[in-house]
Parts: sequence; C-alpha cells; structure tokens
Amino acid sequence: MAEHPRQFHYNRSIGRTAMTHQDEYYDNMITMLELIWGEGYMAPGGPGNVAKMLSGLDTKGKRVLDIGCGSGDVTRLAASLVGPSGSVLGVDMNAESVAAARARAAQSGVGNVTFETGEAASFAEPRSFDALVARFFLMHQPSPGETLAAAARAVRPGGVVMMLESHMAGLLDTQHSYPHSEMYDAIVRWKCRVVSAAGADLEAGLALYRTFRAAELPEPELRMEAPVEGGADSLIFRYMAESIRSMLPMAESHQIAGFDADEVAGLEDNLRDDVVANEGVLVCWPVVSAYCRLAR
Ligand SMILES: C[S@@+](CC[C@H](N)C(=O)[O-])C[C@H]1O[C@@H](n2cnc3c(N)ncnc32)[C@H](O)[C@@H]1O
Repeated sequence: MAEHPRQFHYNRSIGRTAMTHQDEYYDNMITMLELIWGEGYMAPGGPGNVAKMLSGLDTKGKRVLDIGCGSGDVTRLAASLVGPSGSVLGVDMNAESVAAARARAAQSGVGNVTFETGEAASFAEPRSFDALVARFFLMHQPSPGETLAAAARAVRPGGVVMMLESHMAGLLDTQHSYPHSEMYDAIVRWKCRVVSAAGADLEAGLALYRTFRAAELPEPELRMEAPVEGGADSLIFRYMAESIRSMLPMAESHQIAGFDADEVAGLEDNLRDDVVANEGVLVCWPVVSAYCRLAR
C-alpha cells in the first residue's frame, strides 16, 4: 500500500482543527471508494445517494455551486447531470484538494467544471447560481446555520439548496449489526470518537432540518439512507479497515486508544470472518439528504 502523508489542516477561519478530505480519504481510499461508488450501491453519499437526491429536478443546463468540494467527486457528478450546456463551480478552502479536484476533472475529461480555492460561505456572487450543493461539509462547520445562510445567498430566487450529511451517531447504541458484532461495535465507537474529536458533528444528518431553519431557508424535504452489507464479497470490510488506518494519526493526536497499526493489518479479514461465519449483516453510516427550493 502506498504511503501517503497524513495532513490535518488547521482551519484558520473557524479556529480549530478540521478534518478535511485528505484525512479520511487518502489516495488509496479514494480509489477504493470510487470502486464502490462506481457500482453506486454501498458507500454513504455515493452517486446513488446524490442522484436520488437530485432526482425529479430539472438539472440540464443549470449553474451549480458545490461548497467544500474536496477532490470534486460530487462536483463531477453534478457536471454530468447539468450536461454540456450547464456548469459547476467547486470551492474548497484547501488548495491541495482543489489541485486534486482539477487534476481529476481533467483526467476524466469533464469540461464543464471549474474549481477555486476559497472560503465557501463568502465565495460566490449573490443570486448567481441555480443550485447550491454540498456533501459532508456542514458537519465540519462550527455554526452550520450561519454558514448555510451565507452560502445560500449565492442562489437565485426559485433556485434549490441540497445538502447531504452523514449521521454517524445513528450507529451508536442501536442495532448496527445482525447478529450483534462486538468487533463492529468497537469500530463504530472508535470512529465516532475520532471524528468527533476532530471537531465534526456526528449528528449533522438529522440536524439538517434545524440547520435549514436556522439559515432561514424553506422547510427541507429529508430522507435518510443506510446501506446494509453482508457476504464475503462485500467491500464494507475493506472500507472499515482502510478508513481506520487513515484515521490512526488523528486518533493518536487526540490520545484515543483502541486500534493500532498491527490490529488494522488483520482487521479486514477478522471483521469479514466474524460477520460471514454468522451469515450476518452490518449497517453502514446513515446519510441524510435535505432539499428545498427558494421562493421565486
Ligand atoms: C469531508 S470533506 C468533503 C469533501 C466533498 N464534499 C466530498 O463529499 O467528497 C469536507 C471539505 O470541506 C472543506 N471545508 C471545510 N470548511 C470549509 C470552509 N469554511 N470553506 C471552504 N471549504 C471548507 C474541507 O477543506 C474539505 O475538503
């Protein structure tokens, strides 16, 4: 496995450590998640989720703003939905993510996207976009309602706002596996601790209704989705092991014990054996989408 320097970027605008795209999704992870998302069925917030969120909307030819775009997966998906007559702008405060997003868009031959480095909430001209989208962005904001309100100023009257957030807390103290897997329970608890220590909101998904209201946006339509995975061929075992591996430096910096590199080395196989031997299933992170249309 290729080594990748772990980078925990300090988010100067909000004065705390923010977990950015590089932290959880380093190169190897991205390749793997694309493998999963390409099949559109498993990973939280993959194209399946995003396309469902956008289904029923007239997207062709529209101008879309993707804030906190990271390396631009949602931006490229939006670009395919708006087609050549539309365009998508991805904005991220992290220059490395933006460089990666540009490179990946060029590599995949997507022509109707541009990327800019900047503060998402104050980046765009008022009323200049048909739609504002973001995935796993608000969970990293200290005042998500304020940030959303500021970002939504970029949307024209009658335009739409669509947010997709993880609700990691949804797997805590609930039935996340059948039959119950102690190993998965330890993984869920550890990941939640690390992500929370990094400053992210584990309840951002179900908080979306409140966040839209705090931003003085119209009532959103919401839906929650959580993949349920079982069987020896499932990629969830690898996803869990790789994501833990990528989070070890963050855990160490917050002195959160539970997994070390040696344990992670065997984790994929151990978790698979545990689940498959019992003909069991695991529930993956729930994702909530929220959508509203602004008054004309
Ligand atoms: C977890 S990543 C999600 C990336 C992408 N939306 C995705 O779903 O793959 C969150 C991203 O938001 C960016 N970000 C966080 N706060 C920001 C802000 N205030 N302005 C611009 N970008 C921000 C981070 O740099 C990071 O790339």
